[in-house]
Parts: sequence; structure tokens; C-alpha cells
Amino acid sequence: MVDAQQLPMARGFGKTERIDAWWKSPLAMACYLGAAIIYATWRGFMEADFWIFSEFGNSACGAASGVITECQTLSIESNGNHVLSPLYSPLIIPGADGLGSMVPTFLWWMSPAMFILIIPAGFRGTCYYYRKAYYRSLLASPVACAVSTPFGDYNGERKLFLFQNLHRYFMYLAVAYLFVLTYDVYISLQFHADDGAGALRWGLSMGTLILLINVILLGGYTFGCHSFRHMVGGIRNRFSSGGGQIAEACWKGCTKLNKKHNMWAITSLFWVMFADFYIYACTEGWWTDVVLWGGL
Ligand code: FES
Repeated sequence: MVDAQQLPMARGFGKTERIDAWWKSPLAMACYLGAAIIYATWRGFMEADFWIFSEFGNSACGAASGVITECQTLSIESNGNHVLSPLYSPLIIPGADGLGSMVPTFLWWMSPAMFILIIPAGFRGTCYYYRKAYYRSLLASPVACAVSTPFGDYNGERKLFLFQNLHRYFMYLAVAYLFVLTYDVYISLQFHADDGAGALRWGLSMGTLILLINVILLGGYTFGCHSFRHMVGGIRNRFSSGGGQIAEACWKGCTKLNKKHNMWAITSLFWVMFADFYIYACTEGWWTDVVLWGGL
């Protein structure tokens, strides 16, 4: 039996024989992911109602009353429609109507984003593409091929890292989440006159388009997921029997998206943050949500 041979390699954090700019890609990814994590965390806490955070967004919960205050920054209401930030959807306000009625009121201090961010965070955090990206850029394990790691050699995903197997369950939730976000696009098309009768008119604002692009990008990312592809077709041994043609078509469609999974992952993450920032900027009065067609 032949023993495995270890190639000679410089040891020490970042030590390598490589002479190319191997550090550019992990550094860029670290900046990108770091910015996204900081932004989402800030916005998630912004509408919370405890400690210093109530000073920022002034809380969506209206101090446990279940009423959205005028100062909230989670949705544009100025045109008579309702353009809700994807970071706060589905809107869960403890004690309020809808999903909030299932949440105990003693959680009034939590922002709506805190209830749901676990789904997109869990889905992306356990994604095969993001795993490679943050193992390299944030954990430096390994930071790049043939570059020494700071904590010993890479040993694969064992022990605590077995939680990554939860990805397929986050995928189920992410697919359901797409329907919720699509419903938000539909709601943003409805303009209600402030005339007491609340007459409904259809319209299209810039915010609606931004939400729509968000759903398209998230759809491209979600339906190109390895786990989703396995669910729709890969679970079979052959496509030649029992609805196999449909499964094969779905599998091929997912494969097309999967080939560009990194592109979908990066652009969809950017657009979620941008959509939220657009809504934030409009509620703060920095930008105006222009109505492109119809409306009031
Ligand atoms: S593998 Fe990336 S979302 Fe499933």
C-alpha cells in the first residue's frame, strides 16, 4: 500500500509559494459578505424596541400596541400602496392581526425582521456556494489553494459543521418565502385612496419594480439550489418512467440556473439589501417612490 505523500508547503498564516494575487478574491468576498451581514443586522435591530434601537426606526411595534407608527422605516405608505421591505416580510408584529396573533405579546420588543431573518440567513449560510466563499474569506480555512491556514489543516465539514446538512430544510422554507415575496409585489400594485371608502386603484411604482426584480433574482438563486434540483429530479434513478419527462425538464431547468449559482447568489444578495435600502431612503424622505403608471 502506498503512503499518501505530503507536498512541501510553507507554514504560517497566509504563507504560500504562490506568486499570483490569490488574496484578491477572498478579500473582495470578505468585504462583500461583511458589509451585507452588518447592514442586515443593523436593519434587523433598527425597528426593534429596546435599548438604543427604538431611537433609530422608532419601532414598528408602537410599543406593544400592535400599531405601526408613522415613523417606521419598513414600508413605503406615502402613495396609498404598501411597499414592504423584503427584510421585514412576512410582517410579524406580536399581538397584531395576521401572523403576529400567533406570537406572544411579551416579544413586543422584537422587530419583524428578527422573526424571519433566520430563514434567508440559514438558507444562504448553509448554501454550497456561500460555504466555500466564507470558509475562504471569513474563516480562512483554507483561504486559497496551496496557502497555509491559521488553524491547522482543513479537515472537512465534521462535528459542529454537520449542521450544514440542514440546508435542504432551509430550502423548503426559502421556496415558501418566495411565495410571500411574490404576494408583496401583488400588494404593492394596489393603491387605496385616503377618502374614507378606501377605493382600490391599480398602479405601478418604482418600489413595485424593485420588489419584482428581487423575486426574480431570488427565484434564480433558489431554483438553482443543489438541494432543490435534487428534490425535483435528482432523487430518481431514471427519467424514463412515471412522470419522468417532467422531472427531467425540471432537473435540466435547475441545472441551467445551477451553472450560474454564484452569480445568482451574489446579485440576489445585493438586490435584497438594495430593495431594503430603497424603501428606507423613501421613508426617510431622501428618495421618492415615483409612480410610473396608474395609482391615485
Ligand atoms: S446550494 Fe446554494 S442555495 Fe442550495
